[in-house]
Amino acid sequence: MADTPIAPAGHVRLGSNSGQSMTRREGVAKVTGKANYAADNKPEGLLHAVYLESGIARGKVVSLNTEAALAHPGVVHVMTPENAPSLAVSPDEKPMPFSARMEVLQNNRVRYAGQPIALVLAETLEAATEGTRLLAPEYEEEPARIGFENGETYDPEYVTTGNPPARQVGDLEAERQRAAHTVEVTVDTPLQYHNAMEPHVIIAQWDGDKLTIDMPNQAIGLARAGIATYLGIDPENVTLRSPYLGGGFGSKAVVFGPQYLAMLAAREVGRPVKLVLRRDQMFGPVQHRSATRQTVRIDLDEEGRILALDHHSLSSTSSFDDWLESAANASLSIYASPAIKVSHTGLRVDTGTPGAVRAPGLASGTAALEVAIDAAAYRMKQDPLDFRLLNYAETDPGTGKPFSAKALRECYAEGAARFGWKDRPLEPGQMRDADGYLTGWGVGTALFHAPFFPAKASAVIRSDGSVAAQTSGADMGQGAWTALAQMAADGLGMPADEIEFEIGHSGLPDGSVAGGSAHTASAGGALFAAGSDAVRQVAEIAMNDPESPLYGAGNEGVRASGGRLHRIDDPARGETYAEILTRAGVAEVQGQGRGRREKSAAEQYAMYSHGAVFAEVKIDPDLYQVRVSRLVGAFAAGRIINPRLAKSQLNGGMIWGLSFALHEEGIHDLRSGRPINNDLAGYHVPVLADVPSVESILVEEHDPHANALGIKGVGEIGITGTVGAIANAVWHATGVRPQRYPIHIKDLL
Ligand code: MOS
Repeated sequence: MADTPIAPAGHVRLGSNSGQSMTRREGVAKVTGKANYAADNKPEGLLHAVYLESGIARGKVVSLNTEAALAHPGVVHVMTPENAPSLAVSPDEKPMPFSARMEVLQNNRVRYAGQPIALVLAETLEAATEGTRLLAPEYEEEPARIGFENGETYDPEYVTTGNPPARQVGDLEAERQRAAHTVEVTVDTPLQYHNAMEPHVIIAQWDGDKLTIDMPNQAIGLARAGIATYLGIDPENVTLRSPYLGGGFGSKAVVFGPQYLAMLAAREVGRPVKLVLRRDQMFGPVQHRSATRQTVRIDLDEEGRILALDHHSLSSTSSFDDWLESAANASLSIYASPAIKVSHTGLRVDTGTPGAVRAPGLASGTAALEVAIDAAAYRMKQDPLDFRLLNYAETDPGTGKPFSAKALRECYAEGAARFGWKDRPLEPGQMRDADGYLTGWGVGTALFHAPFFPAKASAVIRSDGSVAAQTSGADMGQGAWTALAQMAADGLGMPADEIEFEIGHSGLPDGSVAGGSAHTASAGGALFAAGSDAVRQVAEIAMNDPESPLYGAGNEGVRASGGRLHRIDDPARGETYAEILTRAGVAEVQGQGRGRREKSAAEQYAMYSHGAVFAEVKIDPDLYQVRVSRLVGAFAAGRIINPRLAKSQLNGGMIWGLSFALHEEGIHDLRSGRPINNDLAGYHVPVLADVPSVESILVEEHDPHANALGIKGVGEIGITGTVGAIANAVWHATGVRPQRYPIHIKDLL
């Protein structure tokens, strides 16, 4: 039962829904097919859209056989740069946060393979698909610029943009002068594609100048504003519905060219248009994680204390936009060092523009840093965990600020105990299991920012006793439907299964972005506040009503529980919301809420979730095939709303880390620039057989500063640390230090 005290502001206690491992609120709807995903919608008069993608990576489209496509039965319209309507704002402008330069058939230029170069509308998907084949494009092709090591075929063009800014702490040269040891490693990471199970989808329908869209989206408020800007219409005229997403991972925070094409086409032909990206089309216009080549140099004193940490990241970006993976920033906030330098350079390649992929920056950055740290520990002949404790950062090394909370020591201790780390031999190549497999153990430190967004929510209590809460937040599968409802219910003083709850619609108060691992803190904080605000109004009515048993109880003497208010000193004296509102003749009260992070706290403290990941690998002694046999992660992320869902997020993050370490790699043909493994048969992700044992430990942590409720994020941190832990376990099994991901058999021989 929820038990919400009506307490003065600034003194927030959650009720008892929070902290419970409730099962997914929408779970039954999903497994019975009742949950309506965007592509499930079939409005009357629907046309299917398929776009033709460029087969070259750089150049121009010089001809398209639109007549042949139009002559095909069922084809209704073909949109090309010749006839495409103009956007209100150039697609090369970035008018708002989370907008990206994109291709919307505004010219015939080709900037990467897979770029949309024409759109075909037809009565059936098959006819639209055939229509694109009949277009038979001809190109003027220029040589593709692909890959760090393809320098023979092109002059590399490097960019430094100042974003992320180069940073330097302390005096690097002076610290290097007094160093006793130096370790330097270079680590390459590949392009990775988000590849959510549900591809990008849009169904766009116009009614006059009103646009209704079904589209999975992580940032409904921003998406609506962006769409209105590019189409030159009032945001009020855009309705965006996104109740369920089959994954997002960052790529559904942005609305891309193909989706704008569908919106333009629907307006042009006056019928609803549906566009669903094929799996191969996910490797182009909807972003990816940059490739990086990172160099980490660590200078150490005689005892193994880090004196200087120098981390440079060269990352791939597109020819037409600057998105530099902030990988080197990992070195700013994990290990203590009197001198730190981080810097970022971009290399222009002819791919789509990269973007944020689950745990942007820190996933790639820790994948390199943790390998370097491990190499440094071995140079000092120290246990890798002892070495990390020796270099534990008591304050944030990059800013000097105290951490809002940091239970990383406890993470190391609890994770190590659960894993059995203490028996680890220092030297590599010492362990074999009963079947003769080379066995290795590695550790990595996990870290992710704890940002906070200004989300809004509303709540209502009605005179029939029913209650509801709403925000436009998004559930990508992470569990927002459930965790956010738990927080709303605590605000409302009701059990979570008795509240009406709604998310995923642009008509609701702006729940901000489901991203940055900030959604529970931001939207959940707003929902709790909205519910509390509604209860406070009901309490006020009762306490001022001489007929109420709560009359005169005063603001601190009343508690809400199970849809009822009662006196704290005498729980028997109370009455239900329905009784209070009915007697007062009030049909309903509306509560509004925003989450809260004190501005002063944000200035004073460095805010992060922390963790420690331990990995065991088993390697076939003849074939050198690597298997991860165990992963144990211990994480401290402030208050946990739903331990079951939090562990699911953390386990999923660690599995993604495993995927980064051993499987994922977007490979492009160096001559044509085309992706060559653009399906889930060639782009490998782990299956259950690759993941025998993954375990998350939730380490208790009280963070009084992060926000009013002390919640930080669990969505992305699981990837960080895991990649390096696996690479370090591979080294421990073989004595070979991996220098690139994914770790291939050939690199270990
Ligand atoms: Mo994200 S990459 O914070 O959706």
